[in-house]
Amino acid sequence: MIKPESPRSKASYTQMQPILETRSLDKFFPRTGGRVDVLRDCHFELPRAGSVAITGPSGSGKSTLLNILGGLDEPSSGEVLREGVALDFSDQGALTNWRAEVVGFIFQFHFLLPDFTARENLLLPIRGRRKVSGSDFERADRFLALTDLTDRADHLPGELSGGEQQRIAVARAFMNRPQIVLADEPFGNLDHEIGARLGETLFELGRAEDTGLVIVTHDPQLAARADRHLALVDGALVDGRMAGES
Ligand SMILES: Nc1ncnc2c1ncn2[C@@H]1O[C@H](COP(=O)(O)OP(=O)(O)OP(=O)(O)O)[C@@H](O)[C@H]1O
Ligand SMILES: [Mg+2]
Repeated sequence: MIKPESPRSKASYTQMQPILETRSLDKFFPRTGGRVDVLRDCHFELPRAGSVAITGPSGSGKSTLLNILGGLDEPSSGEVLREGVALDFSDQGALTNWRAEVVGFIFQFHFLLPDFTARENLLLPIRGRRKVSGSDFERADRFLALTDLTDRADHLPGELSGGEQQRIAVARAFMNRPQIVLADEPFGNLDHEIGARLGETLFELGRAEDTGLVIVTHDPQLAARADRHLALVDGALVDGRMAGES
């Protein structure tokens, strides 16, 4: 596996580079007799440990954009860069590394493994890469405490409420020390008040872990908490306030 360069040990020049950036990103899906244009010339920059919220109507391309940022899908043209270095979408090793170590994901549905306890679910992203160490257990327990789930550590997902399950999913996204956490409608399934509290936890974790956040949401209050609010309109990223979305 290709090892990531450590951003924290790099020269000061790279400290000024956005942790994540897109340039002239286009995405279309070929269809018989034509194509569906989803993203057109999308540009955005996420500063180190900054946060960007992305809103837009259903079908506007939010998940498509997030999947490209996460290396789960490739753009039709344009670039995704980390600290000024473009991700090579044709390099499977680079993609695997990107998904495992550069980004963490939070989806609308938690995708916890049902036969593993809350603590074990937190350790799974690490277990996929290497032997779990004592400090990993400590990190998992710290995250359980931060998400107020210490007394649920040994519960299976089926023994947790929906909000508790999603709290584990939020903590899990940070376990591998990713530089960027990508969240796609992370609290869309939850009661609004519970979602708002979990939104606070997400931003707290982002700050505490020095991690950039890209959050796709329909919730204007969550979007307003981010440093920047962008909206997808006709495939282009525009200022969320100008799009009347906050
Ligand atoms: N594999 C595909 N082939 C063809 N069209 C696709 C494909 N995947 C997505 N699309 C289309 O791309 C557009 C954007 O989809 P996307 O899932 O990114 O929307 P979204 O903004 O996340 O919507 P929602 O808010 O409902 O989750 C939609 O019109 C969708 O039908
Ligand atoms: Mg979506």
